[in-house]
Formats: sequence, C-alpha cells, structure tokens
Amino acid sequence: MSVKTSPPPRARSQAVREHPSGDPRFNLIDRTLKRFSYQQDALIEVLHTAQETFGFLSDDLLIYVARQLKLPLSWVYGVATFYHFFTLKPQGKHTCIVCMGTACYVKRAAEIVAALQQAFHVEPGGTTADGLLSLSTARCLGSCGLAPVLVLDGEVLGRETPESTLERVRQLLLAEQSDAAPSANGDAMHVTNGGIHEPI
Ligand code: FES
Repeated sequence: MSVKTSPPPRARSQAVREHPSGDPRFNLIDRTLKRFSYQQDALIEVLHTAQETFGFLSDDLLIYVARQLKLPLSWVYGVATFYHFFTLKPQGKHTCIVCMGTACYVKRAAEIVAALQQAFHVEPGGTTADGLLSLSTARCLGSCGLAPVLVLDGEVLGRETPESTLERVRQLLLAEQSDAAPSANGDAMHVTNGGIHEPI
C-alpha cells in the first residue's frame, strides 16, 4: 500500500474550535496546531503529539485533528494507519514492535513473533490481558544491517533471537512484579514462564 503524505488542497487558516470535552490534554494538541499555523502539511507532527499525549489515536482524536486541519477524516485515518509508529488501540505498559521486513524476516523475525505469541498469549496488534505488554509488527525499521530488529519500549535492538527477546521481555515483566505492592491480604505473586502473574 502507498499513501500520499501531501494533503489535498485547502482553504483555511484558523482553528475551528476547541475540543468540547474541555480535556486539558487537547491544549497540547492545540499548541502544536498553532505552532504549525494549522498547516495541513503538519498532520504527522500533530498526530505524533496526539499519540504522545493520549497514548493512542482514538476515533475522537482523529476526528478532532481532521476538523482542525480541515482535512477529510479518511485522509487522516489513512495516514494514521499507514505508519507503524501510530496506533489506534490503547497500548500496554510495555511495547514490543518486531520488524517483519525482508531482511529481518529471513533472519527469524517470524520466529521471534511466534515465540512472544506463545509465551505471553498475545497476538500481533494486541495487548496481554493484564495490560502489561503490547505486541506489534512493522515493515522495515531502517536498520536492516542489524536484522532481525525489534523496538522494545522505544529502544532499538538488533541481532535478536527468539530466546534473547523472550528473556528481555520476561525481565521487564519480572521488574513489574517486584515494583508491585503486595496485595492487601499479603498474598505474593510470581511470574510464570509465560509471563502470567499468578498467586504463589
Ligand atoms: S527489514 Fe527489518 S530493519 Fe529493515
């Protein structure tokens, strides 16, 4: 699939109106809109701000951005779904993006995804039931020389194996466990090999 990043012709220079919810987080988006003078070319920057502020791009956010930039919603939606760094679903506390581009694929990227799926019971594009881990795949991340590549909580990691990735993710989840306060009745928890939290 391809997408044109140059927006269609426009005829506006002012904001339409503030978001009716009064949610102060929209002020950050408004600030970015103003910084770029509501230029439609700033769509990607505005979407970045929206995602950083809210964690993901909800329908409401896409509609708001489309209205403020006077762009067709279908255009904004197309851009948001084309780029792997945008997500339209709430993300888990930790995120793992595995590159499935050709260079990574031939170096076992699919095995890494399968190992994560099996160990943590999460599908690509999904989040674990406890909300701790989101797994997704991407096209080329631009670091083919390091294949296979993944991005774990924003850190680019190269020359991964299914085993090394599983170990990294398990360590992250174990750290979550040790950070968690004991439950009110004093029950302890532990993380199984699958990363699932269970009472001891
Ligand atoms: S194919 Fe994975 S980084 Fe290029």
